[in-house]
Amino acid sequence: MMKTEILPTHTKALFAAAVQRAAALLRAGEVVALPTETVYGLAANALDAAAVAKIYAIKGRPTHNPIIVHVAGVEMAMRCVANWPLSARKLARSFWPGPLTLVLPRAKAIPDIVTAGGDTVGVRWPSHPFIQAVIRECGFPLAAPSANPSNEISPTNAAHVAKKLAGKIALVVDGGQSQVGIESTVIDLTANPPRVLRPGMIHEESLLAVLGNLQSSILNPQSSTVLRSPGQLAKHYSPKARLIVLNWRDAADLRQQLETRNPKLETCHIIAHTHIPSESGFASVSVIPHDAEAFARALYAELHRCDEADAELIIVEALPDAPEWRAIADRLRRAAA
Ligand code: TXA
Ligand code: MG
Repeated sequence: MMKTEILPTHTKALFAAAVQRAAALLRAGEVVALPTETVYGLAANALDAAAVAKIYAIKGRPTHNPIIVHVAGVEMAMRCVANWPLSARKLARSFWPGPLTLVLPRAKAIPDIVTAGGDTVGVRWPSHPFIQAVIRECGFPLAAPSANPSNEISPTNAAHVAKKLAGKIALVVDGGQSQVGIESTVIDLTANPPRVLRPGMIHEESLLAVLGNLQSSILNPQSSTVLRSPGQLAKHYSPKARLIVLNWRDAADLRQQLETRNPKLETCHIIAHTHIPSESGFASVSVIPHDAEAFARALYAELHRCDEADAELIIVEALPDAPEWRAIADRLRRAAA
């Protein structure tokens, strides 16, 4: 077990000190947990195979699952890839820095372990100012998966990370609550037309508007079942508790639907957005606003909280069927699988 430092960043001086500390550890080949706007990442020097190997060990991540490379700027992204097509230029101009990962042919500089031996690499320029400052300070890109044990829910604050990884990493930097709250959209630009491998808050309609062409998993659901991205396994991002998604009219209707399942109500946690049942009987009823961005921002923290409360069943109110909700619905499907 190593001692895990948790560094705050809420003043200019603390921010600068944490950048220096994180960069020193990263230069020394260590792994550190850093905030990003999507979820917290477990970062190492992407050009140092031995450092990246530590990420796999800490997460218990299967070595066939490639890791996203984080950059600070388009120029650094271009050094990670073998070519930079027009599609990448357009998407970077529209959505970077931000929650979008571009899968492109890899540059030789990127070690095998980052790409899981494949010939493509995922690159992303995150918008969170802290990780940007660290990457600029280091001068090298950072390989970073979500900072959770493999298959568990991604962390959206420093406490989530510390709870699972304290003792295993030297540093967690506290950069506040992740503003997006679910993982980036991953788009494969080596496919023609490009294809979304993992939905995210930058949704297919927005990508289509910029690219003019996209293999749509909505219009053509079969195409999305091909396992191109190991993160797309049906069961992923899971809380300990069983999770179900239900539609209900009111509290009585919800109770009636639950009767057949016969759960212990005192271990049932409800996450609702529109039809709010009364607390009576349930362990908790939490309300996330009926707004896709607010819902995404809050969802994982709710699931972490349910796990901590030893929930047996998490019941989430069904989501609207609209483009901006699809990535959230995807995460709920995986959590429920
Ligand atoms: O928002 C995010 O993307 C966060 C933050 C930390 O940046 N990172 C993240 O990483 O979610 P991770 O490792 O938990 O998920 C990365 C996903 C996985 O499904 C992985 O298989 C896929 O991206 N991926 C990475 N590189 C790929 C590649 N070259 N080809 C296809 N899929 C790739
Ligand atoms: Mg992950």
